[in-house]
Amino acid sequence: MNRYLYRSIYNKIKSRALRVVAIKIYGALKQPYYRISVDTNNLCNLKCVMCSLSLPGGKSSSQIMSLTQFESLAKEVFPKTRILDLSCGFEPFMTKNFIDYIRVARKFCQGHIAICTNGLLIKESTIDRILNENLLDEITISIDGLSPETYNSIRINGNFRDLLQVLEALKEAKTKIKSNRKLFLRLNYTLMRRNIEELIGIHDFASKYSIDCLQLRHMRLTSEFTHLFSESLYFHQELSDRILKIVCKDKRPGSKITIMTPPLFSDTKGVLTTKNSCVYPWFNFSIFSDGSVKLCNFGKIGNFIDSGFKSIEASARLKEIRQGLLQGKYKKYCHDCHRITDVMDVHDVSSFIQGDLGLRYD
Ligand SMILES: C[S@@+](CC[C@H](N)C(=O)[O-])C[C@H]1O[C@@H](n2cnc3c(N)ncnc32)[C@H](O)[C@@H]1O
Ligand code: SF4
Repeated sequence: MNRYLYRSIYNKIKSRALRVVAIKIYGALKQPYYRISVDTNNLCNLKCVMCSLSLPGGKSSSQIMSLTQFESLAKEVFPKTRILDLSCGFEPFMTKNFIDYIRVARKFCQGHIAICTNGLLIKESTIDRILNENLLDEITISIDGLSPETYNSIRINGNFRDLLQVLEALKEAKTKIKSNRKLFLRLNYTLMRRNIEELIGIHDFASKYSIDCLQLRHMRLTSEFTHLFSESLYFHQELSDRILKIVCKDKRPGSKITIMTPPLFSDTKGVLTTKNSCVYPWFNFSIFSDGSVKLCNFGKIGNFIDSGFKSIEASARLKEIRQGLLQGKYKKYCHDCHRITDVMDVHDVSSFIQGDLGLRYD
């Protein structure tokens, strides 16, 4: 099932208990239902201004998950995985021979396999292999500006013109290679004051590069980013709404592009998912290059390299969290979770900025 359709059905169920029942039925029918993200390294070639990797001390000593470790994870977990994101907080192509990791993922995961990348390290030969061997269902390329000036000012060490070459190569390969599996191309655009107005040109850009989906997300900042607070669109609500409305309305005739936007500030409808109905702890795990397994707001719940994944799934800690949530104790467990405010209450400043707002304006 298309991942966006699945998500929209999931969002329509409002009770946590019912969502858990739905997930259990899915599991009992031997359908994969996990959503797993794996970072095989903790590195990046860029230092984007809004990313924690640009902070002094943001870079820790390098840690790469070996292919053997990845394969043992894949055997244990990927057969149960419906959505596999092969990158989350770092740059996947910083892992040497990353294509071999993708091949292993495809071997064990029958679900939707995606990567999110800045795109700048992808070689044409890699694109050809991904398409020829049907290795991925989706590539998300992060692009936070549609001009060299804006893009290069955000994606430090990146180069807009190089990225255009990668997009061109992807487009060409997609038209050349006749594959029975479609490679979905998505753009991630992190919204902030300096780049929002450039979105006016997004539909021409998207049709030029055959983009299937555009995901617009607000920049979220922790307290270390006081210098960027004034760029948060929480402080430019009218401008943000005006541009997002144009982007949603302005699709080119015949365009099949999916546009995913955050809610408008002027929208008074409720949020999609709230903490009292969230069931992430039943299916959503993030796995890091040192083997640690993290569960949304609960942090590390184990290390698959030390203990295997099954013992983490059976752990007392995981059971206690799930039981507590089913008993309605979400205020205790989830009060400072920002993953769900992300989905997204735009009227709550903590969806944008976590911590002290003292210095937000110039
Ligand atoms: C952390 S990156 C890792 C993957 C890859 N290096 C990339 O840039 O796509 C994943 C996504 O997070 C976004 N991102 C980074 N910092 C962010 C922030 N402060 N708020 C919201 N999104 C952010 C990036 O723009 C990117 O689309
Ligand atoms: S490319 Fe991705 S991981 Fe690297 S600094 Fe930028 S947002 Fe962060």
